[in-house]
Amino acid sequence: MRQASPAARAASATPKAPPGGDAAAALQHYYYRPDDLRVVGGEGVHLYAEDGRRFLDCSSGTFNLSLGYAHPEIVEVVREQAGRLIHVTSRFQTEPLNALVSKLAEVSPANLTRVHLKSASGSDANEGAVKIAQVHTGKSDVVTLFRGHLGQTLGMIGASGAAFRRAPFPSHLPGVVHVPDPHCLRCFYRQERATCGLLCVERINDFIDYASTGRVACVVLEPISGNGGNVVPPDGYLQALKELCEERGIVLVFDEIQTGFGRTGRMFAADHFGVAPHMMTFGKGLGGAGLPIAGILTEERLTGVEGHHINSTFGGNVLAAAAALKTLEIIGRPGFLENVRDVGAYVLGRLRDLAARVPFVQEVRGVGLMIGIDIVDRDGRPDPALTNHLAELGMDHGLLLRTSLYGHGNVLKVRPALIMTRQEADEMCDLLERLLLSVS
Ligand SMILES: Cc1ncc(COP(=O)(O)O)c(C=O)c1O
Repeated sequence: MRQASPAARAASATPKAPPGGDAAAALQHYYYRPDDLRVVGGEGVHLYAEDGRRFLDCSSGTFNLSLGYAHPEIVEVVREQAGRLIHVTSRFQTEPLNALVSKLAEVSPANLTRVHLKSASGSDANEGAVKIAQVHTGKSDVVTLFRGHLGQTLGMIGASGAAFRRAPFPSHLPGVVHVPDPHCLRCFYRQERATCGLLCVERINDFIDYASTGRVACVVLEPISGNGGNVVPPDGYLQALKELCEERGIVLVFDEIQTGFGRTGRMFAADHFGVAPHMMTFGKGLGGAGLPIAGILTEERLTGVEGHHINSTFGGNVLAAAAALKTLEIIGRPGFLENVRDVGAYVLGRLRDLAARVPFVQEVRGVGLMIGIDIVDRDGRPDPALTNHLAELGMDHGLLLRTSLYGHGNVLKVRPALIMTRQEADEMCDLLERLLLSVS
């Protein structure tokens, strides 16, 4: 058993008290309203609150803590690197950045040989990928999926697949064409997979011919739609999409910001599906324990866009690069990805057994440790209210669960840190079982 860390010990020694004092003062200054939970530390898959409660974090922060909270090797690397060099303008080479770009090129699909590391967030990286595609094709439009989530900037809000996200803002990225996502459970075209002939890919031709300007630069999509409902595309979908892109001279971009770096049990979802895109964006999990780093991988032919067009002050941060390098080393160790596949398959199996006993669970779907629990009402329709209620109630059961507004709003996301052991998987599934059965 792991020893309780200082953070865990401090948390359990602190008497239970409602947030007050300085918290009350601080709350007057937050632009937004944070949750009442005051967190004092985390370790592995667990998070500790000031009032002594311990939570199992089913969504590894914002799906970015691939190695969990306070991973000791990341902490050590960060301490060491911080004492030497935290940041230098990304014009210059540093040892961590040089090592990181080489490593990223090594672990990514063979056609992706160039690494752009000047982004500080996933949204930035996706915008950069669109810019690269636009410059190289000389075309403008972006095709993306219903219910996809590509980021928070005005540009990426324009490209994200939900109208309500664009509604408050008068302007966003022009020339975006949204097409139905490959969600077989709720197929837009009301087809059955066995006989559909992947109509959802074929019809993209019509969207390009009739709904775009006819000048499409890129198709950008998450290979597994994360916030959009943990939608795993059917076999052959991504292959067919790549063929369509190549026939029409369109750049295919995978947003692997959630799916990258081991989440699916392979280094990238591209490896899981056996389809290499022309560009790939990454972020979130690369920092291992929460260090901010994001970027773009491209084919050789797509290089050449001037540095100042895709750049950000904190992009290529040296401290984050050192953490990222260590993260890749850890993920690459023998047995690491195998453990993600084993534990993921185990969790999927247990949750599917549970689903058979819970009338409001329509489906449990996923790959590796990217799993979603699809919640429906009595008539089998997505039930966002119940989903949100379950997520809130989860805290009483010691679980941190995330839902999402972006899809149908009815999916509980199970994406814990990739270091999860079988024992911790049992703890998580036991707690989820208690939670779901408590409202059945
Ligand atoms: C698939 C995907 N793409 C892009 C983003 C945007 O990344 P960031 O929040 O780092 O800008 C997110 C964030 O949730 C994401 O899940």
